[in-house]
Amino acid sequence: MKDIFGKALLDYQNGNYTEDIITSTSISDEDILPLPYLFRSFSEMPKLEQKALQLAKGYVLDVGCGTGSHSLYLEKKGLNVKAIDISKGAIHVAKQRGFTNAEAIDILDETETFDTILLLMNGTGIFQELIQVSKYLKHLKSLLKPNGQILIDSSDIKYMYEDEDGGFWVDTNAEYYGELDYFISYKGEKETPLKWLYLDFKTLKLACETVGLHCELIKEGEHFDYLARLS
Ligand SMILES: C[S@@+](CC[C@H](N)C(=O)[O-])C[C@H]1O[C@@H](n2cnc3c(N)ncnc32)[C@H](O)[C@@H]1O
Repeated sequence: MKDIFGKALLDYQNGNYTEDIITSTSISDEDILPLPYLFRSFSEMPKLEQKALQLAKGYVLDVGCGTGSHSLYLEKKGLNVKAIDISKGAIHVAKQRGFTNAEAIDILDETETFDTILLLMNGTGIFQELIQVSKYLKHLKSLLKPNGQILIDSSDIKYMYEDEDGGFWVDTNAEYYGELDYFISYKGEKETPLKWLYLDFKTLKLACETVGLHCELIKEGEHFDYLARLS
């Protein structure tokens, strides 16, 4: 990983904002990810994220924290929060923003236990592929204190396969339709392609059942997105 994402976040934080991140996927064309969005305040967050922050309690782990927007909000509210991200640049920025309990590690290397684990902005993305979901869920479960909860958001992206006549062109013989290849570029530099997973609620619930987690739908968003609580 070249950490192009982290580089872009550092540029923004250090006053060198001239361009946004360009993303594309195996099923969609180029799109812009505005850097200011990754520094959003509570009022600028989607309702699903606001709901997750309202439900957070106890010692909180913010997984894939990015610049630490969610962590900073919770810390200001008086909660004890740890933030982790595989992007060294992102962790650097979270620290520059005043968040001290931040570490550049992979979720699979985390060993502490928590009352709340947050995975936001398509939290299932870090599972990468359907086949890896139970491995990540089992690990997340092992990081929960008694009565702990995991708050995670994702989307059912079936709509992305809809053609102009309202039909769907999902290849039923292919892998799960929410498995995407994700491409990021910034200032002309390309990141190594990533795998990024969108999980519909039914599939997430099924995967949770196989690892002994209870999965509850907390809130649906306006565009096939949802927030779930696993306990
Ligand atoms: C879509 S961004 C979301 C950032 C932040 N949560 C937000 O809402 O602004 C996903 C983040 O997850 C991080 N990430 C991806 N895989 C990870 C892993 N295995 N462990 C920890 N962080 C990971 C990425 O580096 C990235 O910062």
